[in-house]
Amino acid sequence: MPEKIELSGVELILSEPANVQMDWVGNDDLINQLKAAWMIVDKEDLPLNPRILGKPGIGKTTLAYAAGKRLQKDVYIFQCTMDTRPEDLLISPVIASDNKIAYVASSLVSAMIKGGVCLLDEGNRMSEKSWASLAPLMDKRRYVESIIAGIRIYAHPEFRLCVTMNSDSSTYEIPEYIQSRLQPKIFVDFPNRADELEILKYNLPFASEEILDYCAEFLENAHSEDQPYVVRDGINIVRYYMKTRELNGKNKSRLNEKEFKDSMKHILEDGALRYCSEDFKKYQDEKLKEASRHDDFYLDDEDEDMY
Ligand SMILES: Nc1ncnc2c1ncn2[C@@H]1O[C@H](COP(=O)(O)OP(=O)(O)O)[C@@H](O)[C@H]1O
Ligand SMILES: [Mg+2]
Repeated sequence: MPEKIELSGVELILSEPANVQMDWVGNDDLINQLKAAWMIVDKEDLPLNPRILGKPGIGKTTLAYAAGKRLQKDVYIFQCTMDTRPEDLLISPVIASDNKIAYVASSLVSAMIKGGVCLLDEGNRMSEKSWASLAPLMDKRRYVESIIAGIRIYAHPEFRLCVTMNSDSSTYEIPEYIQSRLQPKIFVDFPNRADELEILKYNLPFASEEILDYCAEFLENAHSEDQPYVVRDGINIVRYYMKTRELNGKNKSRLNEKEFKDSMKHILEDGALRYCSEDFKKYQDEKLKEASRHDDFYLDDEDEDMY
């Protein structure tokens, strides 16, 4: 049964926190940046509302969820979309069984009431109008006003907020007065090779070292050329590879490079294959040769100029 509470004479049905197995592996510095932003240093102090930025699939949602959990808090996730209306963020009316109107608190409002963490996921997808309803929550007032239920809701002192945003797929430009309330910015970048391997292992505990190593090397090579391939792609490739091996009655712990690349083609594009171990070495050699041909060309030019 969902929990119900009464607030200013209105009965609210609360949403449940998320309950998933999602820990953060590797760079604890990012967890600490979030903890610092949420910390209160004096009774006059207020928590900040950090904005987690980075490429899709790099680990933003995982980071926010894991940071909340490490503080022993319940984490409520609100998935923002283009169609999120201000009231969806706050309180929605529903028809209850006795044909009366009941009010359901969103995951954001439930977190505010219970003193949990709310993660507004993919906040850049949400329109300015919806963001506007959160302005008072993100400053000293720490409240929201639901027009539908006709009540003002104050955040519990333990309530914490953060937002994730994809750096490359902004649907709406978030207005300046909201951006200034969503600080500090926490940038999630590609993990290093050792962390990436640990992340793959954590998410794919049933995959062999040989396969995970090959995948981590591919990702590291791609990162070195700033390609957009992320750990989520790596996880999907390994999963798909192992499924196809299993389906064909083959040993799914063995690495078959050709078949691994076939799986890659289904997750990414053909161009991604050049970042696999041997292919990457060849690709780099070719680039070097190309560069030296280019230099020779210019040197020849200069030689002519001298005469
Ligand atoms: N540091 C990490 N520790 C554990 N898992 C991670 C880490 N970084 C990424 N992942 C995994 O990668 C996938 C994508 O992460 P996610 O948080 O959904 O990315 P984003 O929110 O940036 O799109 C998830 O399966 C997640 O478990
Ligand atoms: Mg996400």
